[in-house]
Amino acid sequence: MKKIIHLSDLHVGHENCGDKFRAIIENIAFLKQPAKDYVIVITGDIVDNANHQEYIDEAVGIIELAREYGYTVLVVPGNHDYGNGAIGDKKFVDLFKKNYFKSNKVTYPKLDIIGRIAFIGLDSMAEELHWHDRFFSEGELGQAQLKRLKKMLKKSEVAKRRKVIYLHHHPFDFKLGMQLKDNKDLKDIIENRIDMLLFGHYHADPVSAGKIYHGAWGIRRCYNGGSSTHKNGDTGFQRVINLANKDPRKDYDGNFI
Ligand SMILES: [Fe+2]
Repeated sequence: MKKIIHLSDLHVGHENCGDKFRAIIENIAFLKQPAKDYVIVITGDIVDNANHQEYIDEAVGIIELAREYGYTVLVVPGNHDYGNGAIGDKKFVDLFKKNYFKSNKVTYPKLDIIGRIAFIGLDSMAEELHWHDRFFSEGELGQAQLKRLKKMLKKSEVAKRRKVIYLHHHPFDFKLGMQLKDNKDLKDIIENRIDMLLFGHYHADPVSAGKIYHGAWGIRRCYNGGSSTHKNGDTGFQRVINLANKDPRKDYDGNFI
């Protein structure tokens, strides 16, 4: 079974976060071989500010480098990928697809069947871009996306595999102006039904950033990656997870920078 490297909140464009992201990938390429045994999952805030195309170009270049090394890389958007982090704009939805997927036909949930694992990426900014709620850093999946997720989990090609859901917003803890607004609806759909939930978003507060939520909603592994590039010195992880090991204590922090 493929091993998973979870990265989050890289914030390329902020100070030397781009250099750190590049160093992480170079070090993964050196330490984690063969590359085809690994899938890198990035849970959003890939860049610090989507209004700067040069930040996106730098991030895409590093992701392409990882792919050239032979790694599969999966990404979902965070609030900073759809604007400056506090104010979003609908134009970034298609721009994100064009930049990171080379196609604007991608829809969420985004399903990638890789060997014995079904990877399901959610856009937790999907319903956060209306004029009335596009401020702050909250997330909302929206009923349309949640309905598609419910249907997707019933597909036989998904049901028979290990299931990993990854999204940007923190689904558990409430933080004013930052929480996933429809987290209860997500819970109803995925509770006791998936193997792992990966997310980020909370990294400025060291208590939330370092917290592991294993067992929440009946999900064995629940990880907040924090900021893997340690934006502003924030807590963050570069974890390596092997779902073949039933015991999550065998997962570890790769420390690639
Ligand atoms: Fe972030």
